[in-house]
Amino acid sequence: MITLSINGKQVSYRGNGDVSLLHFLRNDLSITSPKDGCSGEGSCGACTVEINGLAKLACRTKMEGLSGAEVTTTEGMPSELRLLLGSMFAEKGAVQCGFCSPGFIMRAKKLFASATMPSRDDIIRHINPNICRCTGYIKIVDAIEVSLKSFFDEKNHKDTGPEASVKDAGEQPASPSATIGNAYPKYQAVDTALGNRPFVDDMFVERMHFGALKFSEHPRALVKKIDDSEAKQLPGVVRVFTATDIPGAQVTGLIVQDWPLMIAEGQHTNCIGDVVAGVVAVTEETARKALDLIRVEYEVLEAVTDMHAAVKPGSINVHAGKSNILETCSIRFGDVEDAFKQAAFTSSSVYTTQRIEHAFLETECALALPEEQGLRLYSQGQGVYVDRKLIAHILAIDEDRLKVTQVQNGGGFGGKEDLSVQGHACLFSYLLNLPVKVKLTRQESMRMHPKRHPVWMDMHLACDAGGKLTAIRLNAIGDTGAYASVGTKVMERVVGHATGAYTLPSVDIQAHTVYTNNIPSGAMRGFGVPQVVFALESCIDDLCRQGGFDRWEFRYNNALEDGAATATGQKLEGVGLKKTLLAVKEDFRKARHAGIACGIKNTGVGNGMIDDSEVKIEFVSEKKIIIHHGWTEMGQGIHTMAIQCLHEETGIEPSIMEVNVSTESGIPTGMTTSSRATALLGNAIIDAAKRINEELERAGGSLKELTGRTFKGKYLCNWTCKPGAETDDPKIHFAYGYATQVVILDDEGNISKVIAAHDAGKIMNRMLFEGQIEGAVHMGLGYALSENLSMKDGQLLTSKFKDLGILRAKQMPPVEVIGIEETDPYGPYGAKGIGEIGMVPTAAAVANAYYAFDGKKRCNLPLDL
Ligand code: FES
Repeated sequence: MITLSINGKQVSYRGNGDVSLLHFLRNDLSITSPKDGCSGEGSCGACTVEINGLAKLACRTKMEGLSGAEVTTTEGMPSELRLLLGSMFAEKGAVQCGFCSPGFIMRAKKLFASATMPSRDDIIRHINPNICRCTGYIKIVDAIEVSLKSFFDEKNHKDTGPEASVKDAGEQPASPSATIGNAYPKYQAVDTALGNRPFVDDMFVERMHFGALKFSEHPRALVKKIDDSEAKQLPGVVRVFTATDIPGAQVTGLIVQDWPLMIAEGQHTNCIGDVVAGVVAVTEETARKALDLIRVEYEVLEAVTDMHAAVKPGSINVHAGKSNILETCSIRFGDVEDAFKQAAFTSSSVYTTQRIEHAFLETECALALPEEQGLRLYSQGQGVYVDRKLIAHILAIDEDRLKVTQVQNGGGFGGKEDLSVQGHACLFSYLLNLPVKVKLTRQESMRMHPKRHPVWMDMHLACDAGGKLTAIRLNAIGDTGAYASVGTKVMERVVGHATGAYTLPSVDIQAHTVYTNNIPSGAMRGFGVPQVVFALESCIDDLCRQGGFDRWEFRYNNALEDGAATATGQKLEGVGLKKTLLAVKEDFRKARHAGIACGIKNTGVGNGMIDDSEVKIEFVSEKKIIIHHGWTEMGQGIHTMAIQCLHEETGIEPSIMEVNVSTESGIPTGMTTSSRATALLGNAIIDAAKRINEELERAGGSLKELTGRTFKGKYLCNWTCKPGAETDDPKIHFAYGYATQVVILDDEGNISKVIAAHDAGKIMNRMLFEGQIEGAVHMGLGYALSENLSMKDGQLLTSKFKDLGILRAKQMPPVEVIGIEETDPYGPYGAKGIGEIGMVPTAAAVANAYYAFDGKKRCNLPLDL
């Protein structure tokens, strides 16, 4: 028996000494602030706790070594320090998804025992073992720094007398008001920072069972036999499932129905992310043990894992009877041939970009449980109504028998759009009539969800002797892997954004979306645009070198402005691009080695599809209002946007507002994607608020009078069209955001600063705006320098989190975010989406900085430095 102290209480442990402290805390004691982000690899820091006064990783600490130990988690921190750090993480915007936050807080705790106030560099060094995928660390460091300052000021006050006091450690500044534009703290940020707000894996219910999935060993193989006889005998196993157990549709998909929930005997696998069987057992360990006992007999088949080979005649077809070219999207206008003949300068190169893992800190997890007449699903997916529709189809039940509640997730970045484990959890729960949780390990997560597309681009760009861009020709291929996901839409963005932030009179662009036997590619922040902007902006610098043009001026002279048209012919309004260029001009000119790149990114799916949002605002009592909407909170702050909009419109106190996202609200909503949620929901709330204000006026401002009433609001954009549609005034997207970024290198070639100037229309919340841009720049720098999810012959070369190349705090340069507010005609208060554009120009600016530094042109990401 091992006895130890946990958060000041004596606890005994009698189990296997090999079990990790993290497992014990979470599963035996229900202490869930330490999170599991890397499945015991010890590389993410989300499980950091304090053991005997030192920050340690609970996932790497075995119970056998803990006799007599004192373990502290955020739950057991001294209450003043807990309040201080929790509040400062909220006030400074250090919490986006918040999955990493308790780990950072526990890592930071030791700094409060320092003899003197640690410097900012000390803080950065200290938190370096922990990874945050959302924030770029800047606001985490800010929060720790300001907490330490408050703490040390108080300490000095006690040491030197009341005259030296600045303020009490427990005394917090008043929160900024929720008025639009203010740095109002994120919804539930304090609870999230401290680990009190549950993610799906933190939820435990009575009789809960655990599911685990058996993945294909081979990218392409005939499944000859699945033998589960041994697995079924393992004590604790409730049932083994295969594809034959699926009552409804075996095959699902967001756009194209091509993705089997499980592969049946007699069918072939298409990638290593395919599931061949599932197990439900009384514990997760038992379910995983049983997976090893399932024998799958394969006949390994030839796979096609190279996108160039996949488009060649004679290639095997990934999907029988279907071309590997899923879609070819093209735009042509002007006389490109002639423009290239007449050009004074041309730049031609082949550019390639790599596969990228989203690496959201929270891996996929779903909890399904039986409810009268049906099921409830707790999902961290990016669209609860889409989850419901797809799963109802799989189970062959009416949609109204399935209720899906969105649990704020630990990062998505597009990687939680497709169904992952939600379908399996529901299937198992439905067939067993038991609550079932299915969670992926980090390694499983990497093999299952779609990635950022690797894209091959043969780009040619021309300009005249005066430096005016005259023509572009692009042939691109995107490896969309085994399943369509939203791959065609990603490659359509490559086409639609190939002219970047510039006006070009002649265009010949095509992009193929190609099936291979690799892990699927799909949505990821930027959605194809960072790829093509890397190629375009590299070509622009090449033209500048050839023609002796100033790189800033060349961009300014060609930049999109009001009335100019994109590659798709859409005439733009509210274009703040030139203002973003002006904002960085001086710093760019002053720097010895600097790269510059511009970007444009659509808001909304557009392309002839509907962008809409509804909202229901329920007055439960005079002390409680619930905003029901359908968008997923994944760290970006949509719930906060909802609260700020309602407060702005009605003046109602934000502290009485709650947010609910569940299909029971009956407001079907699409996927949280394309940087669109704030614009659409904001407009819907403004609509609802008109009627609320009328009623409030009638009631003399009394909320009590409105108790029991629900007000609906709606915004609909149904007027976009596909590129190439027969119209003189094509509108492909309802809005766009614009940006210019500058990357500055020091004399050793290290990145010393990034300046990110972004036109956000109206900046709804300055702190969240900065956080989105800083986090996206962090992701963009990783994209440029270090991140790469390599595959060979359809297999991952690594499935370790530490090998993904995600930049750590010490590697993150300072980022100066400059906000430009050029009003958008459609966005609420003139706002434009900002979720994705932050990383659109980053890799291109890095590549151009290194060319400026050493004169070497680099055409492949990550850059070869
Ligand atoms: Fe750090 Fe999301 S806020 S991982």
